[in-house]
Amino acid sequence: MPIIVNGSPAALPEDPRVSLLDFLREELRLAGTKKGCNQGACGACTVLVDGERILSCLALAVQYDGRTITSIEGLAAEGELHPLQMAFIEHDGFQCGYCTPGQICSAIGMAAEIERGVPSHVSADLCADVAPTRAEIRERMSGNLCRCGAHNGIIDAISETMTAEKAA
Ligand code: FES
Ligand code: FES
Repeated sequence: MPIIVNGSPAALPEDPRVSLLDFLREELRLAGTKKGCNQGACGACTVLVDGERILSCLALAVQYDGRTITSIEGLAAEGELHPLQMAFIEHDGFQCGYCTPGQICSAIGMAAEIERGVPSHVSADLCADVAPTRAEIRERMSGNLCRCGAHNGIIDAISETMTAEKAA
């Protein structure tokens, strides 16, 4: 079975040592996913696998045979930016933009985790529904670093998008 990347099947690399990050960037030429630390510490390489966020620098491409990968290039539908992409622009959620693809993919996965009721370190009640408070969002996005210090705009953009989705 091939790996599906942004809706298109792709052949897996012959070398089983190739990371998912290098596969996306160097073999498929999808350079939107960024390589920051290459050791699981910065979140720049975050992509979605079947809707769940993972660090692609810590994953081997061959592990994802038959799975569906979404990178930042797969979020804009028919030329329309994803609502979170638009919110990042509106709230100055980036400066250099290097961390942005990872922030956005991570936020989408994070919103799905809240929707499923997965608690975090700051959730008051481990069994109750989780509200997407700023404290929850900050805690859950703490694995995505921004060296430009755009965190306030990032949290504003995510918070606004999650509130709008809940109201819709
Ligand atoms: S490049 Fe993967 S976590 Fe930093
Ligand atoms: S916008 Fe530059 S690292 Fe986040």
